Amino acid sequence: MSHDRVAIVTGAFGGMGVAFTRKLLDEGWRVARFDLRQAIDAAPPTNDDKRVMVAACDVADYASVERSVAAVRERFGKVDAVVNGAGIVANIASIAKMDPAKWAWELGVNLSGPFHMIKATAPAMAASGWGRFVNISSQAAQVGLRYQSAYCASKAGLLGLMRVVVAEYGHKGVTCNTLLPGLIATPKVLGMPPEILQRAVEGIPTGRPGTVEEMAEMAAFLMTDKAGFINGASIDVDGGRHVQISDLTRKRQ
Ligand SMILES: NC(=O)c1ccc[n+]([C@@H]2O[C@H](COP(=O)([O-])OP(=O)(O)OC[C@H]3O[C@@H](n4cnc5c(N)ncnc54)[C@H](O)[C@@H]3O)[C@@H](O)[C@H]2O)c1
Repeated sequence: MSHDRVAIVTGAFGGMGVAFTRKLLDEGWRVARFDLRQAIDAAPPTNDDKRVMVAACDVADYASVERSVAAVRERFGKVDAVVNGAGIVANIASIAKMDPAKWAWELGVNLSGPFHMIKATAPAMAASGWGRFVNISSQAAQVGLRYQSAYCASKAGLLGLMRVVVAEYGHKGVTCNTLLPGLIATPKVLGMPPEILQRAVEGIPTGRPGTVEEMAEMAAFLMTDKAGFINGASIDVDGGRHVQISDLTRKRQ
């Protein structure tokens, strides 16, 4: 498949980011991989694909985002799409005990990060008449995860941000959609203590964690021309975890 479109993936050296990059390359995109310097330095050297560039970028810092987006325009000439994948859990603590600095850090990466990326790229996409944003939120946007107020608030905030992107850019050929993953089998997730992992899997109707490839399939589809009428959607990619299941029979069949 060959076209000349350019995508930025943030958090591109993380569990999902690697899969997003691979899938978009398979689909013919040129890809700019944004991540923190330490994540890039920790990655094993890759082959020298001319369709890939790497930028050390802290999405929480708008100056860093502006510099990195400028580097993409310098190298590839434009930006047609952004997958906002960078995200962190900085903080597991009750509201009473949560350090406000850590709250601000988590909001800075998970919510201000996508805002910075959209601010730096949406006007040029609108001017070109075509653009795609895919934000990676979480089931945490929909539920109250105890002791994760910053994570839940930041991931729910992404839905509000998406709706404004739709309102401001929908008539310019730009779409913005949000994926709400449940448990996805990234290296970090697979490294969780087995009893916690098992408990998490028990709550998934499909009976297993999702794969990073399943996330990448959905993100890549939303970035095609075929998905041009899907705008402002929040899509659960969670094996049915969000469904409230009632069982009045107490019997397994
Ligand atoms: N894995 C899951 O089960 C799961 C579930 C729900 C939501 N998510 C969300 O999916 C996204 C990807 O998650 P993942 O599992 O691949 O996580 P990951 O930790 O493997 O990767 C996240 C990447 O983001 C990068 N990053 C962190 N702070 C950054 C910053 N300030 N600027 C730029 N990059 C930064 C990290 O270096 C890392 O490479 C995240 O937004 C996460 O919240 C993951």
